[in-house]
Amino acid sequence: MTPSPTVLILGASRGLGLGLAREYRARGWRVIATERAARPSLALRDLADASGGSVRVEAFDATDWAALPGFARRLEGTELDLLIVNAGVADDPTQAVGAVAPEEFQRVMTTNALAPLKAIEALAPLVKPEGTVAAMSSALGSVELPPNGNFEVYGASKAALNKLLKAWAARAAGRRTVLALMPGWVRTEMGGSQAPLDVETSVRGLADTIAARAGSGGVAFVDYRNAPIPW
Ligand SMILES: NC(=O)c1ccc[n+]([C@@H]2O[C@H](COP(=O)([O-])OP(=O)(O)OC[C@H]3O[C@@H](n4cnc5c(N)ncnc54)[C@H](OP(=O)(O)O)[C@@H]3O)[C@@H](O)[C@H]2O)c1
Repeated sequence: MTPSPTVLILGASRGLGLGLAREYRARGWRVIATERAARPSLALRDLADASGGSVRVEAFDATDWAALPGFARRLEGTELDLLIVNAGVADDPTQAVGAVAPEEFQRVMTTNALAPLKAIEALAPLVKPEGTVAAMSSALGSVELPPNGNFEVYGASKAALNKLLKAWAARAAGRRTVLALMPGWVRTEMGGSQAPLDVETSVRGLADTIAARAGSGGVAFVDYRNAPIPW
């Protein structure tokens, strides 16, 4: 019998990350799902408790730089088929860049662009040579697509994420497949209640997209229907 594949999902306390943990659990994967220690997620604990050991919860704060080597060491010996960096934050979408406080700019950029790459650098050695490394991006991070009038700083942080992901892919991914993912506009705390997509539809599409791209190598920016997005 072939062992179940393993996914590590960073930022799985709620929203799309929790949805991905549920989706991969339903697909028979072993799931390592993270939450911030200071904000334990009851929904994630319930999923783990009902999983018969196939879902494990770990503490991880994406911007706690000092804790990252220890986190990577705790997972030593784990062979990942898939690493998904999902954790992300948004600022006030109506604020143009000139109005944003420098500290807020720094918070969004650091969480959405620097932290994912720090995590990928530290954790990629656990990903199998032909495995997949994915980061949750956004179409708002596309430099080619026209701006939508909102989310200037958030969009810039996802553009920075995409650029850094491409740089890492070229430098260090080897045969691994690297994906910048666009989940669609989804009803979560970040996406808001007006969003057209529910979490279940988005994560099903994301998991299908990741499966379709697995083993192909290279780097791609794609949405939850596996449609390419211009960088
Ligand atoms: N929803 C959409 O329409 C949409 C569209 C495009 C892209 N995205 C992207 O998809 C990802 C998930 O979004 P979502 O809609 O599910 O957002 P959400 O409901 O606001 O959830 C955000 C998740 O990120 C975690 N997180 C934030 N900062 C963290 C940190 N420093 N360390 C560890 N975890 C951290 C949160 O954990 P806590 O519970 O501890 O805060 C939570 O689990 C984000 O990267 C977002 O930019 C979303």
